[in-house]
Amino acid sequence: MSTMLYLDTARLGQMSPTALKMQCDFVRLMAEDPSSLYTEQFLFEGVTATPEIPQRFPELTRWPGIEGLKQQLRQTFAENTTSDTKVLLASRTTSLMQSGIRSLVAAGRRHLLLTDLTWPPYRKWIQSFARLRRIRLSLLPLRKRIWQQGFTADDVAREILKYVRRNRSDSLFLPAVTHTGIRLPLPTILRSLSDSSTNVRTVIDASQAYGHINTGDWTHLADFTFGGCHKWVRAYLPLGVAFARQQDRARLHRKIVHDPLLQFCDATGTGGGPMETVNVVPLLTAHGAVKDLMPCSEVSRFANAAQEFQPIHQRCPTWSVLSPHRTLCSKIVLLQSESPSVRKLPNQQLRQLLAEHGISATTYGGGVVRISIPRSRLSKPGRIVHLLAAGLGRLDRARKPAIPDRSFSDGHTAKTSGPVGRLSPSSQP
Ligand SMILES: Cc1ncc(COP(=O)(O)O)c(C=O)c1O
Repeated sequence: MSTMLYLDTARLGQMSPTALKMQCDFVRLMAEDPSSLYTEQFLFEGVTATPEIPQRFPELTRWPGIEGLKQQLRQTFAENTTSDTKVLLASRTTSLMQSGIRSLVAAGRRHLLLTDLTWPPYRKWIQSFARLRRIRLSLLPLRKRIWQQGFTADDVAREILKYVRRNRSDSLFLPAVTHTGIRLPLPTILRSLSDSSTNVRTVIDASQAYGHINTGDWTHLADFTFGGCHKWVRAYLPLGVAFARQQDRARLHRKIVHDPLLQFCDATGTGGGPMETVNVVPLLTAHGAVKDLMPCSEVSRFANAAQEFQPIHQRCPTWSVLSPHRTLCSKIVLLQSESPSVRKLPNQQLRQLLAEHGISATTYGGGVVRISIPRSRLSKPGRIVHLLAAGLGRLDRARKPAIPDRSFSDGHTAKTSGPVGRLSPSSQP
């Protein structure tokens, strides 16, 4: 069966309508005029430099050039930053994460604090980089305290700040929203650090934040914020975007990891320096997707998606909503099956099974399913809950006998009186 309900924006967002239209017209332009000075002028300077283009390719009328795109991204995701903050565009988010970490070293930082909420591949890279460069690394465990002990946003902020001060860390790497949907209290943490005399440098992973939560209220407080446009922004094609505070312009420049698109975008368009051939289409789709984003103020009704999904448990008693404290919630929600046969399934098999029942979502061990809902006028929570419950109900019926076993494998018991459960240690994604 084809997928009917797309709830996997945290992995890869569905391309937005304007992103799609811009991609189509740009590809048509490239088919006719793949690489001339004329198309380069269009890319760098926009339609003001190439007024004939809109007549032939109407969707490209809105393209403001690469500098215009940077301005648009700054206004959308980092509106309170000033001109000392540089906007970097790259083909991979990972290049920007590595640039952010290297910029800490360039600024003389030698003791970095990470938490166990870090995206696992990033944590691995940072650990090996720290070993090579003799950077002291501290790891603050928060995951269990959030999922099992009910930590609030204030508890998380207090714990991180206490740890930074007690251990005299001089730098901090945090995700704004984790891959399992924990929204960290960044405004509190960053404001407190910038008010104090600790001079702690911060690198923030906004991969799950751009287009999902309001980032404008803290990006100006961080030293380096990075993320991509292919998830919640819904550009589909990967484009990494970073906002880097330049305390020292030359030092930052030296530490930026080699990324061909980054180099291309930083050229003036006059052909300065050797360059690789790069895919520039993500620049266009990112611009179109940002145009389609709903302002954060219009999506307050999605403030606590875990709350919205509580009726799932009434409709499908074998599924519980796993929820951190409401002050840490985002539009990523975890559900867990209480059926032993579903819990035993390997990730990919559960993912396949969901797809066969009309649901596209990410799966983890222990029957945990991650659903993520983009901010869109069409994403009505009631309708999504209805369709999701119908799909999960079909899945349960297909996997008979579905006699619920309500005990978690570690002996903890899931809350049965209500729909909101806690993650058992064995099934923590
Ligand atoms: C918190 C977080 N950071 C980084 C990444 C990696 O993002 P990308 O798809 O740009 O490699 C992910 C991916 O899901 C993520 O959840």
